Amino acid sequence: MFDFKAPADGDKSKLYADLLSAVEAVTDGEPDPIANMANVAALIWQFLPDLNWAGFYRMVEGELVLGPFQGKPACIRIPLGRGVCGTAAAKGETQLVEDVHAFPGHIACDAASASEIVVPVTVDGRVVAVLDLDSPVPARFDIADQNGLEMLIERMGTRLA
Ligand code: SME
Repeated sequence: MFDFKAPADGDKSKLYADLLSAVEAVTDGEPDPIANMANVAALIWQFLPDLNWAGFYRMVEGELVLGPFQGKPACIRIPLGRGVCGTAAAKGETQLVEDVHAFPGHIACDAASASEIVVPVTVDGRVVAVLDLDSPVPARFDIADQNGLEMLIERMGTRLA
């Protein structure tokens, strides 16, 4: 449907600005959160290099349940406080993990994963989902990724809830 191109020069602020424009274009006027999560996951997968998983877990009756994603099949249910995703959801804070093997309780859905970032999706003070990105590259994510992804999730707001 859309053929967005990621910038080739690796400039992360430009990359995230372009990603945000693409996400706003495809979710504009669409209220269904699952459809929007699916397109956000697909655009992240298209734009960001060195990922082996990108997607959402939704908060359903007090636990995280697998939502729209790109990558290999993953664990379906994650209790609050467990793993990187459950920690991000319980604390309501982004978890930036340079080495997943050093994170207590990390849940290895894919043995290839080396680093991870999980950003909570918060609406009206409630965590309704988390965005989870995994990479086979150690320390793949930095503060520029955290800022870019947090801005994207904040701008999506109720389109993801
Ligand atoms: N590694 C995550 C589990 C989800 S998968 O990476 C897709 C965690 O520790 O919460």
